[in-house]
Amino acid sequence: MKKRYKVTIKPDEKTVWVLEGTTIYEAIEEAGIIIKSECGGSGVCGSCKVMVLDGQYEDHGSERFISQKELDKNNLLACRAVVKSNLTVDIPITSRLFEQKILTEGVEKEIEVSPWVQKYYVETPKPTLEDQQFDLDRILNTFQIQTNRKVQTNRKVCTDLSQPTQVSLDVLRLLPDALREEDFGVTVVLAGDEIIGLESGNKSEHCYGVAIDIGTTTVVGYLLDLLNGQELGVASRTNPQTSIGDDVVTRINYASTNQDGLEKLHEKIISCLNEIIDELVKEAGIQKSDIYEVTTVGNTTMNHLFLKLNPKYLALNPYVGVLREGLSSRAGELGIAINPHGRVYSMPNIAGFVGGDTVAVILASQIHKSKEIKFAIDIGTNGELVMGNRERLIACSTAAGPAFEGARITYGMRASNGAIEKVVIDKDDVEINTIGTSKPIGICGTALIDSIAELLKAGIIDKNGRMKKADELPDNTPSFIRKRVINHEHHRSSFVLVTGTMSRSGKDILLTQKDVRETQLAKGAIAAGYKILKDTLGIDDKDIKEVLLAGAFGNYIRREQAKRIGLLPDISTRRIKFIGNAAGSGAKMALISRKLRQEALEISNNTEYIELAVSKDFHKTFAEAMYFPEADTTH
Ligand code: FES
Repeated sequence: MKKRYKVTIKPDEKTVWVLEGTTIYEAIEEAGIIIKSECGGSGVCGSCKVMVLDGQYEDHGSERFISQKELDKNNLLACRAVVKSNLTVDIPITSRLFEQKILTEGVEKEIEVSPWVQKYYVETPKPTLEDQQFDLDRILNTFQIQTNRKVQTNRKVCTDLSQPTQVSLDVLRLLPDALREEDFGVTVVLAGDEIIGLESGNKSEHCYGVAIDIGTTTVVGYLLDLLNGQELGVASRTNPQTSIGDDVVTRINYASTNQDGLEKLHEKIISCLNEIIDELVKEAGIQKSDIYEVTTVGNTTMNHLFLKLNPKYLALNPYVGVLREGLSSRAGELGIAINPHGRVYSMPNIAGFVGGDTVAVILASQIHKSKEIKFAIDIGTNGELVMGNRERLIACSTAAGPAFEGARITYGMRASNGAIEKVVIDKDDVEINTIGTSKPIGICGTALIDSIAELLKAGIIDKNGRMKKADELPDNTPSFIRKRVINHEHHRSSFVLVTGTMSRSGKDILLTQKDVRETQLAKGAIAAGYKILKDTLGIDDKDIKEVLLAGAFGNYIRREQAKRIGLLPDISTRRIKFIGNAAGSGAKMALISRKLRQEALEISNNTEYIELAVSKDFHKTFAEAMYFPEADTTH
């Protein structure tokens, strides 16, 4: 009868009992742990390296991939070693296969972690008089033997790692010392098929990347471990370019009409990214030099300003940008303070006003693979809209303006401490909710939508957007509402949301007639874009399976209220879903998966762009979309 042995697997501390003759690889599989394997345990890929900490085993062939020095320390290939006693084995992080969850479409999506930048530890034989290979040949030959990536295996053709074919002069200059400092053990950093770094000794367990969503208003960065895709931190800043202008057109004009305008805008965003990276590194307690790649997404203007590409012609008919494709640049070239040999990948754009952020939203929400028609909307200073399915996908951009971010609204402010974020008119009072602990200071976008929706329901604002005067209100208007309708600004009406006794400034906080007009412009632009996309596809509201709300603002909108003012289509609220910061999710996906990065390029190639300015119906559609819906459309 065969003997049974206990195998303990670290660092998981899992234990399995196996029969004599079982390989360590099989024991690990039995424990439910996923170990890297390109060859399915045939001993020909070299991926399944482990270290036996305690116990007996018999090794049949690890020497093909593992040096004598490492074998002496009980390192071996799990699939080549047979268990001969109770045994404890450690799986290093570099031999693990991780799947990372990324928030997309309100659900977590499993993504195989296979980043563009990867690190490999290579132990080369020492040179001798009989072996006088040059240093680079020595590394490349050993690398090929150790990784052996292009073999046909019993599972698949392993193509996920390119053989190194390029190496730059500055990296070559590091090679002789890096190789000899730790006894001919060196960590090779690969970006695609290019060696971008060499580090002496085994540094393969420290490899990080940062994904950054460069919004017109807000910049958000995520630190990820490139070995397992795990998110280690998030940091954000207001885009410092807002001090020059709150919308893209103002910034393009500034860059085009000032001699150092482009330089200034570029420097602002670079220093913002560096601040974010500093914060992420500090919080996570890692070295900045271990960050090897940054991926960025942004609208086409943000992308141009980030890369210091002249954005002038984006704002001039026929609105043509410099670069649509994704671009991999050296971090040093852009002044991004990560490892000096690191890379910065900016995601591809679709058109002059639909950029990499929209590509990222599509990637994260997977509309391009959907059988059903979906509509994704990212409401920001520019509203980016995407509609379609795997057959056809179209996108447009609407100049919604910054009203929903609180700008150009009389008492508008960003969603921060002291901002009224919710307004409800109930049967005997106006209820508000304020962010943080401060007394109310102003209103942010969600409260703007709420208050207009509530005043439409109360009959104080009509479908044209006109706010009635106190003496025009119906007789049955409750007195607590009537007394809040006041004359303001050349006798035009305003509604008192918060009285001076309750506000921080001691003055009333008002919703003015002008605010209603600004909101009509913003929601009209988005609603017109929606209608033109629908008409282009020849579909109706009922054909749209889901509306996906992306972006920080979209995630706080109260859907019924947004429908009431006509910002969102009149479809069942159940079919309107929040998908979080999908642009950020897309940037993360492109950072940890080369396959998804390729998919992003295909999205950029295949998504049709509609230029609303030349759509013959746009002005008429826009004018109609500025009206508020008459009936309560809440479902
Ligand atoms: S799984 Fe391929 S060598 Fe072990």
